[in-house]
Amino acid sequence: MPKEKKLFIETLGCAMNVRDSEHMIAELNKQESYELTQDLSEADLIIINTCSVREKPVAKLFSEIGVFNKKKKASAKIGVCGCTASHLGKEIIKRAPSVDFVLGARNVSKIAEVVNVKHAVEIDTDYDESTYAFGEYRGNPFKAMVNISIGCDKGCTFCIVPATRGEEISIPSNLIIQEIGKAVDVGAKEVMLLGQNVNNYGRRFGGTEEKIDFTLLLRKVSAIEGLERIRFTSPHPLHMDNAFIKEFASNPKICKQIHVPLQSGSSSLLRSMKRGYSKENFLNRCDKIRTLCPEATISTDIIVGFPNESDEDFEDTMDVLEQVRFEQLFSFKYSPRPMTEAALYEEQVDLSVASERLTRLQSRHTEILDEIMDSQLGKIHEVYLDELKPHGRIAGRSDDGKLVFVDGSEEFLGKIIEVKITKTSRGALDGIVV
Ligand code: SAH
Ligand code: F3S
Repeated sequence: MPKEKKLFIETLGCAMNVRDSEHMIAELNKQESYELTQDLSEADLIIINTCSVREKPVAKLFSEIGVFNKKKKASAKIGVCGCTASHLGKEIIKRAPSVDFVLGARNVSKIAEVVNVKHAVEIDTDYDESTYAFGEYRGNPFKAMVNISIGCDKGCTFCIVPATRGEEISIPSNLIIQEIGKAVDVGAKEVMLLGQNVNNYGRRFGGTEEKIDFTLLLRKVSAIEGLERIRFTSPHPLHMDNAFIKEFASNPKICKQIHVPLQSGSSSLLRSMKRGYSKENFLNRCDKIRTLCPEATISTDIIVGFPNESDEDFEDTMDVLEQVRFEQLFSFKYSPRPMTEAALYEEQVDLSVASERLTRLQSRHTEILDEIMDSQLGKIHEVYLDELKPHGRIAGRSDDGKLVFVDGSEEFLGKIIEVKITKTSRGALDGIVV
């Protein structure tokens, strides 16, 4: 049946938002049939799925609504969804009357209900989506993203997510297994388990089902036949107990790439961020990972310029970078956010100092990354080739998360293949099939 309507959807922010967009596409398709388009001017519905973790994307939202409004068809609707929708709510329609509806990050399953209601605003963070059965749309059929929990209870003092996504609820494991099973049946070999705090899984189940922790969930997921790779994001360093690290290291289906978000290397700043671990605890967990699983790559998130950050605090962060040698680094200048504790702290760091620190951190990380990538020459990786690229190329990820390109096309698509690395660069590797 030809699709009647066209949907343009822009997704900003984290993997969770990418999955939320998939959920909305699936929901909309249940009601009316929408075809995705990259061309804004032919869309009947425009959705902006936002992020509000830092201030920049929020400012960008309003300028973007203006641009979209000029380019769109007269009859096209604009919806603002996600975290910024949660925190600004009605304000968005007040500031930008061309917006038709606002839907919070916790409420994406209600998309079909609000899409035809002029100026609907659904941003309730008490809403329980944990047992909601979503449709099956997936942007990439080879890799499934599956939520295992919603919300976050951690209350890190810099972070707006608990306010926008609400309290943490674990999704029943039978639903998770069912959803992964469905994706595997139609060709996915890899799953990415998603949550703000995945290894705190088990906290607050919606129903009366079996209560298990993240380590047990990993075991259950790895028993799914046909599933070959498991990834997850984000785990929290505080919940990386020995049983979890052991499972990570020894379960052959779990990809050997792990995100261990540091935020700061200074124990006193970590305390005022309410992260629940010290510099020493963090290093100890990374040591444990490296001891049990030397082949694992570790990535991290770091914030510089958090209130009160002294030169000494920053040196602690640089020291952790030297010791752990993170392969991937997501680094940010601290951005004060509404509804967070740290925004009220008085000792905000001078922006120019924060910029200098960020530059130093990123330059040193680039050197480390170059060394890591250069050392890959001649190595053999198992690569899950899942994306056709221009000029007869195909790309995928190695088990430890590196982006690898080879010559080839459909014959390799959806296959896990051994590749020998013949060329290295900072962002990706090139290889030949062996
Ligand atoms: N649950 C995830 C974090 C989600 S937010 C975790 O624990 O890793 C993603 C990242 O954005 C955070 O790890 C942090 O590094 C960054 N971030 C969050 N709030 C921020 C703020 N106010 N300013 C700058 N960076 C921030
Ligand atoms: Fe934010 Fe901390 Fe949760 S960074 S998402 S409050 S773990």
